[in-house]
Amino acid sequence: MTKIAVLVSGGGTNLQALLDAQARGDIPNGEIAVVVSNVPGAYALERAAKAGVEDITVRKKDYPDTAAFCAALVEELQKRDIGLVVLAGFLSILDEHFVRCFENRIINIHPSLIPAFCGKGFYGLTVHERALERGVKVTGATVHFVNEGADEGPIILQKAVDILPGDTPEVLQKRVMEQAEWKLLPQAVALFCQGKLKVEGRRVDILP
Ligand code: GAR
Repeated sequence: MTKIAVLVSGGGTNLQALLDAQARGDIPNGEIAVVVSNVPGAYALERAAKAGVEDITVRKKDYPDTAAFCAALVEELQKRDIGLVVLAGFLSILDEHFVRCFENRIINIHPSLIPAFCGKGFYGLTVHERALERGVKVTGATVHFVNEGADEGPIILQKAVDILPGDTPEVLQKRVMEQAEWKLLPQAVALFCQGKLKVEGRRVDILP
């Protein structure tokens, strides 16, 4: 059984998709063991509590620097024997030490088709604002492993979503979540927990 930690900063709709998938039995061999927020009072914490999952808050400003903050996160996760870290709208940067401690065991969801609209500064609603400004007709979501580069790790799953006339960033964000994010993330987590993801350089092979 893989113990899963979900790291959050906000509303936690992707966390909810994972909790719902777990309740349906759609994450065989996986168990959401803890939800970690870097933002006190984030609504995602309430979702965890409702589902009976342990939640903790680790605030960056309680530590002298990023390295100390990330070391504290690593300690909390290792203490609980976490085998998979899921970044579900976690908006704080993780350092190299963190990434090395969980190499090929950190999964992130990003609201665009990487390599479009990703990297430093592209998060949340901003991603959809940029896509609309650029006038693309199709966007989507990507689930990928996290490495040292921002949104540069091996891609696990992607799903395209149409942009429609009159879309606002908010409308588009909701469509991308409903049609892509809330499906892809639980799917990728289930594949990981079943040992079906094989990383080959920057490519991920999905085993039958
Ligand atoms: C989601 O759209 C997620 O893809 C995005 O933040 C939102 C969090 O929503 N993540 C990023 O932009 C990471 N670069 P949620 O808290 O409702 O899951």
